[in-house]
Amino acid sequence: MRFSYFLAFCLCFLLITNCQQSDTQKESNVTMNVEQRSFGKVDGNEVWLFTFENSSGMKVSITNYGAIVVNLLVPDQNGQLDDVVLGYDSVAGYLDKTPYFGALVGRYGNRIAKGRFTVDGVEYKLATNNNENHLHGGIKGFDKVVWDAETTEDGDNMGLKLTYLSKDGEEGYPGNLKVTATYWLTQDNELKIDYHATTDKATPVNLTNHSYFNLAGQGKGDILDHEIQLNADRFTPVDAGLIPTGELRPVAETPMDFRKPFKIGARIDADDQQIKYGGGYDHNWVLNNQNGSLAVAAIVSEQSSGRVMEVLTTEPGIQFYTGNFLDGTITGKNGKVYQRRFGLCLETQHYPDSPNKPEFPSCILKPGETYQTTTVYRFTTRK
Ligand code: GLA
Repeated sequence: MRFSYFLAFCLCFLLITNCQQSDTQKESNVTMNVEQRSFGKVDGNEVWLFTFENSSGMKVSITNYGAIVVNLLVPDQNGQLDDVVLGYDSVAGYLDKTPYFGALVGRYGNRIAKGRFTVDGVEYKLATNNNENHLHGGIKGFDKVVWDAETTEDGDNMGLKLTYLSKDGEEGYPGNLKVTATYWLTQDNELKIDYHATTDKATPVNLTNHSYFNLAGQGKGDILDHEIQLNADRFTPVDAGLIPTGELRPVAETPMDFRKPFKIGARIDADDQQIKYGGGYDHNWVLNNQNGSLAVAAIVSEQSSGRVMEVLTTEPGIQFYTGNFLDGTITGKNGKVYQRRFGLCLETQHYPDSPNKPEFPSCILKPGETYQTTTVYRFTTRK
């Protein structure tokens, strides 16, 4: 008798738990998976690769070395996934040689002339690593440090929260800067990056991501047939060292005019002084939206795949760089050789050399203030 009660109890229990399971399955058409695996060692310590996958199958892999976006698998017009960013299969490649593939660059992304600037009456001298200029945070910028990482959730979206303390004096910068960057994969096929920083001394800050995109798939050719539209009426012309002159020049009637979609290759070798200085496009556009709200800055499309990438940002500028320095000497993921212009970068940012250009929007973060910016890379398709 007792045994049959027990059996009945077990049966009920099984029925209830089964119902609960199918309920969760019914509710969760929306899923988000995360996997963590070793990506190799840096100075004897393990670094990690976190892979997030949303309900549409879009996947992003990020390592806590350099806060690097390593893989970004995005559906084409037929739903087929391709990896649309350049990079390496393991951390060893990044340690050996990288033109900032996928990395978070800082403390100041882009150039500071002669590595010098003055804040609060004190002149600072930064590491110089681009001839006489400072580029992308110096010799050991944020792209070459190990970040603390933890996964995080917000509704149906998941992300990786990366934190790093950049100490007072690092690469010559003033102040202890606490940085957090959260990379989100959303259910709307977006990679969204929230940047956050605080300091204990006034310092320039300019954080961005240096992914090289190829919407046909990484290693599958150059980006000259991609079309791009930039929501900018002006750009910041540069000198031979790619330092802005201070002018905000209208793009009208120049090869810099992308107010309507234009093939990247159409004017990339034009007989134009600015194009010559950059060896193609390697310039900062002054975005029309200057009020700090999240707005569309760029739209890139690639015909054979039908992929479209929109870049939205709260930042006032965007560096459009066409991979002019890639030269076939790097073999990246899956044995692909990266030739000249095999990837394009859209680095949302403050204008280059802002610390020395009082007329540009200020990039100085003061104690008690919070640096907070957002950039979104949104993927869709069209036939
Ligand atoms: C930035 C710069 C380029 C180049 C690349 C890295 O985008 O503007 O000039 O240095 O980084 O190769």
